[in-house]
Amino acid sequence: MEKTVSEAIEYRRSIRKFDPEKELDVNVVKKCLINATLAPNSSNLQLWEFYHITDKNLLSKISESCFGQPAAKTAKQIVVTVVRKDLWKNRANDNLNFFKSKKDSLSDKEFKLTQKYYKKVIPFVYKDFLGILSLSKYLFAFIVGFFRVMYRQLKRSDTRIVAHKSAALASQNFMISMAGFSYDTCPMEGFDSIKIKRILNLNSKSEINMIIGCGIRLKEGVYGERFRIPFEKVYYRR
Ligand SMILES: Cc1cc2nc3c(=O)[nH]c(=O)nc-3n(C[C@H](O)[C@H](O)[C@H](O)COP(=O)(O)O)c2cc1C
Repeated sequence: MEKTVSEAIEYRRSIRKFDPEKELDVNVVKKCLINATLAPNSSNLQLWEFYHITDKNLLSKISESCFGQPAAKTAKQIVVTVVRKDLWKNRANDNLNFFKSKKDSLSDKEFKLTQKYYKKVIPFVYKDFLGILSLSKYLFAFIVGFFRVMYRQLKRSDTRIVAHKSAALASQNFMISMAGFSYDTCPMEGFDSIKIKRILNLNSKSEINMIIGCGIRLKEGVYGERFRIPFEKVYYRR
């Protein structure tokens, strides 16, 4: 039986050693990746891709490019969450087409708003030329910001953060879903991104968000008791 959300959150640990004897059902992992795509994400642009690695040869190459970390070396399957900020135009069009197909169920005002958002606002935020355009937009926002509330995440580095945030939320959806099935994971950022991109033959504009080792935990794969900063130190009620 699947765990409740709270049970799955409690169960999830970063597992560094997976059981060599226990395999994962590819379809269950795939189902968890479908759950990953249901994560909240900025402007619903879904600037992500998920590479589900099951091929032994690829697993071994990826593990090598993760510095041979045990969480990668012992993983039965690996998921690579990739950010595709470069796809913003296609994804905006996908959203436009979606709303066009739903036009009958939307009011005129709602429909016009969606069109304006994906035709004007999104290009304003994402359009760039060698980082120059985005920097000028940022400076424009800085000046206008003295007079009114202004969206400021306009630099190239800002939109990268925005895209990575959403991809990380999808990765977390994936890991919690896996925990729901008593499957284990370990998120990793200790990897050589250029080598990983080469192994997966990724478009040069792709960025690796996270590499997630997957398997079933060995007892010694849990590195000690869970440590968290006391809640009172991180919780502020205003
Ligand atoms: C973005 C990110 C990158 C991480 N990179 C690594 C890594 O490269 N290797 C590793 O063993 N653990 C990695 N971790 C796991 C963290 O060390 C772990 O989540 C943290 O110590 C808390 O432990 P817990 O996940 O068991 O609660 C990473 C976690 C995150 C979220």
